[in-house]
Amino acid sequence: MASTPPPSTALSSIGPVPFKDVAGAGGEGHRGVPPPEEFSGTVAAMPTTNMLGFKLHRHQDTWVVDACLTGVLSVQRRFAPRPGDVVLASPPKCGTTWLKALAFAVMARAAYPPSLASNEEHPLLRLNPHACVPFLEELFTVGQEAKLELLPSPRLINTHMHHSLLPPSLTGNPDCKIVYVCREPKDMVVSLWHFAKSIMPEGSKHTFSDLFEDACKGETPSGPIWDHTLGYWRASKAHPDRVLFLKYEEMLLDRAGAVRELARFLGVPFSAAEEAQGMPADIVGLCSIETMKGLSANRTGVAGLLGFKHESFFRKGVAGDWANHMTLEMARRFDDIVEDKLRGSGLTFKP
Ligand code: A3P
Repeated sequence: MASTPPPSTALSSIGPVPFKDVAGAGGEGHRGVPPPEEFSGTVAAMPTTNMLGFKLHRHQDTWVVDACLTGVLSVQRRFAPRPGDVVLASPPKCGTTWLKALAFAVMARAAYPPSLASNEEHPLLRLNPHACVPFLEELFTVGQEAKLELLPSPRLINTHMHHSLLPPSLTGNPDCKIVYVCREPKDMVVSLWHFAKSIMPEGSKHTFSDLFEDACKGETPSGPIWDHTLGYWRASKAHPDRVLFLKYEEMLLDRAGAVRELARFLGVPFSAAEEAQGMPADIVGLCSIETMKGLSANRTGVAGLLGFKHESFFRKGVAGDWANHMTLEMARRFDDIVEDKLRGSGLTFKP
């Protein structure tokens, strides 16, 4: 194995470091945090709906899950971006966990070489990706946003908030970057179904058809999915240097290419020596669903306010699983809705 090349100036900065290492445990399994007084009037005035028994609130034309609502409101009011911040944005079930792992591995590669053979101490081998990269609105929900200040720059943070909900201090900040990942919407619905099932109460009568009907109305966590995606799509067109727009399916097709694109966008392209060492392929291997699924950090433990099992974030990791759950008629109906919503934008999910 060739020796590690000297880090570039950008890579020799301190961050990112695993969030859990600096902030300790916390945030996991805090069910039913009451809304802070400051928001009670606002929250009470919001229309609500239920998706598979989970409460969603209508906030500024988006659907926000109950567990993160006060966090979203607090982020809008109080989040103070720092120069160098990298925000990973996505709708739930569209590759968030994978993007967290890839971005962390790319940005932290000087301190933590990603070669599985040469480094058994990589944080992603001992921590779930959600423990490496903090979830913005969740931290604000539980009043632990001060922990973000413990992270050295550049900070890596993730959010499920719509672009339209993010504070202008972030979206208008030339010193912050956003990486967005989205996914073919039918596959998002199927992935959401399996994920939701993992925390549905015993004996729940909810069916995939119930979720499908909700999804057709745009009533999914951080929905409507089309508005979520369009917001970041337009931002990436307006500011390609600040917003990188990725599709999960394209990443699956060219994983090393996606890693290179991430590195380039984040201002830390691979050097010729790193390429010769096979570093992009090392990162692909380290972050592959096969590697991640096998780690005890991902087979045990829980993440998030709702106490999602780490293992529930890793299922099939393929494109096209919708075909195993939807009839052709359902697929056509959903495709038509999405196509209609995206019309004229230049964005399409057609192969
Ligand atoms: P499936 O349920 O279709 O398998 P999120 O992280 O936003 O919750 O998205 C979860 C989806 O990403 C799941 O899709 C999961 O299997 C997939 N996934 C998780 N880790 C992955 C990885 N390392 N590579 C590819 N896909 C991954």
